[in-house]
Amino acid sequence: MSKLHPFLSILSTSPKHSVSPRSIKPIDLLHRYSQSSPRLQLQQTAAMSINQFQAVQKGGPFRLVQAPLPKPGPNEVCIRPKVVAINAIDYKNLKFGATVSEWPNVLGIEGAGTVESVGQGVTRFKAGDEVFTWLQRSQYNGAFQDVFTANESTVAKKPASLSFEEAASLGITFLTGAATVAAGLRIPLSGFAAKSTDYTSTPPQSILVLGGSSGVGAVAIQLLRAALPSATIISTSSAQHHAHLKSLGATTTLERSAQDNAATIKAATPGGAGVDAIIDAVGAAAKAAAVYDAFKSDGLKLYTLVITGPGVEPPKGFEVSLVGGITVLKKEPTIMQYLTELLESGKYKLPQKVEVVGQGWESVEKGLDKVSSVSGTKLVVKL
Ligand SMILES: NC(=O)c1ccc[n+]([C@@H]2O[C@H](COP(=O)([O-])OP(=O)(O)OC[C@H]3O[C@@H](n4cnc5c(N)ncnc54)[C@H](OP(=O)(O)O)[C@@H]3O)[C@@H](O)[C@H]2O)c1
Repeated sequence: MSKLHPFLSILSTSPKHSVSPRSIKPIDLLHRYSQSSPRLQLQQTAAMSINQFQAVQKGGPFRLVQAPLPKPGPNEVCIRPKVVAINAIDYKNLKFGATVSEWPNVLGIEGAGTVESVGQGVTRFKAGDEVFTWLQRSQYNGAFQDVFTANESTVAKKPASLSFEEAASLGITFLTGAATVAAGLRIPLSGFAAKSTDYTSTPPQSILVLGGSSGVGAVAIQLLRAALPSATIISTSSAQHHAHLKSLGATTTLERSAQDNAATIKAATPGGAGVDAIIDAVGAAAKAAAVYDAFKSDGLKLYTLVITGPGVEPPKGFEVSLVGGITVLKKEPTIMQYLTELLESGKYKLPQKVEVVGQGWESVEKGLDKVSSVSGTKLVVKL
């Protein structure tokens, strides 16, 4: 079995942002200018600087630092978040430096707010638009600051019907859930059916989603249901989420303990034959190898694993795909526009309930303490 280092693929795809590490000087700008410049210059400087909530080193602590207002490069959008989301990867970055090579570092990969400025070539957005986004981070370009920079392709217009809290919760789980379906299982999402030849003509008809109550799992369930109306979709989660996952499209919801019992899973498939495909949204199979025995003996045997970090190795003997949010953006660069369309048409439900941890940058730390023990919940912080 070959050793994979999934985080390497994320690092290698990080774009260069116009906010380069060298352009940020974590100094007290207000102090400097108050000594050397007239009042007007002080005001101008304050307007052109922002607060960054930096993690000083692996494990913390955080500090609030002033930095120059970022300027968008070509095809980039600068966004002033009103709400930021807390994700498992933020915790993994802080605790283990998962996708971080240099400290200090500005963490955070999701937010909702207003467009501050747009770069050359940006056509879909203008200053003042209400948006939400996932962003590919670099050392000083994370969501935990007053203004961050995102590539236009990762930004979506916020429907008026959605709060900023709800919008901030949506980006990365949508992209990753869509990646499991469209890139992992090669099932065309309804919005893209005609646009690519890289989809299967024999989609799986019985699919097991491991970790259905995770953000990624809940997105996968509803996109699968939209794409394959008659498929059998089985999901595992704690019982408290079963009704919600059925409302998203799951045919059968099983307790997490079923992951250790292939017979229970097979019993939920047509004729007890087994599943054609597994979407592993949380790396559950690493500790529950029994799920591989739930495959149909003469079926497709597709196993799609979300990149969750080092330690989860895809199994041998199946058609394995490893996916993350970036995977689907490469395949369908306009997918965030599709998300806005789905939301506006009422065809997309919030995958998880949204919990506001608190208000202000200090609440980010509270969210990071909590994020690895959430159940069916997305944590957000208001600014
Ligand atoms: N590479 C990428 O681009 C990318 C993007 C997004 C996410 N991810 C990764 O994908 C994973 C999922 O992210 P997320 O935001 O969707 O997670 P999440 O919502 O925070 O996940 C929490 C949920 O996972 C479920 N869960 C945890 N361990 C489980 C297990 N062994 N079996 C079944 N269910 C389990 C829990 O279910 P119950 O409480 O119901 O038991 C809980 O509801 C994370 O590891 C994240 O880092 C990667």
